[in-house]
Amino acid sequence: MAETLTLAATHGARTDRAADPASPLAVRGLTVSYGDKPALFSVDATFPAGAMSAIVGPNGAGKSTFLKAALGLIPAVSGEVRVFGQGLAAARDRIAYVPQRASVDWDFPTTVIDVVLMGRYRRLGLFRRVSRAERAAATDALARVGMEGFADRQIGQLSGGQQQRVFLARALAQEADLYLLDEPFAGVDAATERAIIDVLKALKSQGQSVIAVHHDLSTVAEYFDHVFLVNVRAMGEGPVATAFTPEALARTYGGRLAATQLDQLRLTGA
Ligand SMILES: Nc1ncnc2c1ncn2[C@@H]1O[C@H](COP(=O)(O)OP(=O)(O)O)[C@@H](O)[C@H]1O
Ligand SMILES: [Mg+2]
Repeated sequence: MAETLTLAATHGARTDRAADPASPLAVRGLTVSYGDKPALFSVDATFPAGAMSAIVGPNGAGKSTFLKAALGLIPAVSGEVRVFGQGLAAARDRIAYVPQRASVDWDFPTTVIDVVLMGRYRRLGLFRRVSRAERAAATDALARVGMEGFADRQIGQLSGGQQQRVFLARALAQEADLYLLDEPFAGVDAATERAIIDVLKALKSQGQSVIAVHHDLSTVAEYFDHVFLVNVRAMGEGPVATAFTPEALARTYGGRLAATQLDQLRLTGA
């Protein structure tokens, strides 16, 4: 859970090259490395406001790294990140993050309502008493994801789909303008997938921006407006209708795009 609780905003030099106040997230020349091998190399990407965007690429492509670097959770070797045209320090409060479920320590002893209240701490201040209004906001967020009645459960006792809903509720409680989600549909049941997509579409209809790492190529066209393809390097971006092409997928996945996935895409007409 440590990863989700430390939100240090450490970023290098910024210039105005990526300062597009209309874009909820724009990166330029982003290079991130865990050792000598870069996980992301000189990546440019600009996401549209008020839209649902997918980040697509094979395992190990640097998708999670991209979100973490955009959040300042891991340092970049070089490059810049602009959020609504601002640097991270100024814009951090406008971003909510739902980490990849597999990366979270679910044995951490905490209740559902406390996880959601974490989304309010930035407003609350860590040591202020939780007011009735804060608790009501957290309860409302739980209701929006269909998890009312689970407030006092231990998070470790929930199913994968329920855990994902709770983390989405925590993000909702933040009342952010930009929502970053890492594989929100991985390992969840069909009902949860539907519930999550409905919540995300509601956010979009209120003008908020959603960017999700998405692993299921067969639903990209149905769920998303915009796509960013990545495999260490940026492999393409744009409206799904024009950028999500077999050529772009071949470029991104190389020879590794499974035949079954290509078949799925043919079936869905992408
Ligand atoms: N904490 C870490 N330490 C070392 N290498 C890492 C770490 N996190 C990710 N990597 C490596 O960086 C690359 C990109 O990882 P990641 O961003 O998690 O990919 P994706 O989310 O696209 O599957 C992979 O090769 C992965 O093994
Ligand atoms: Mg990942």
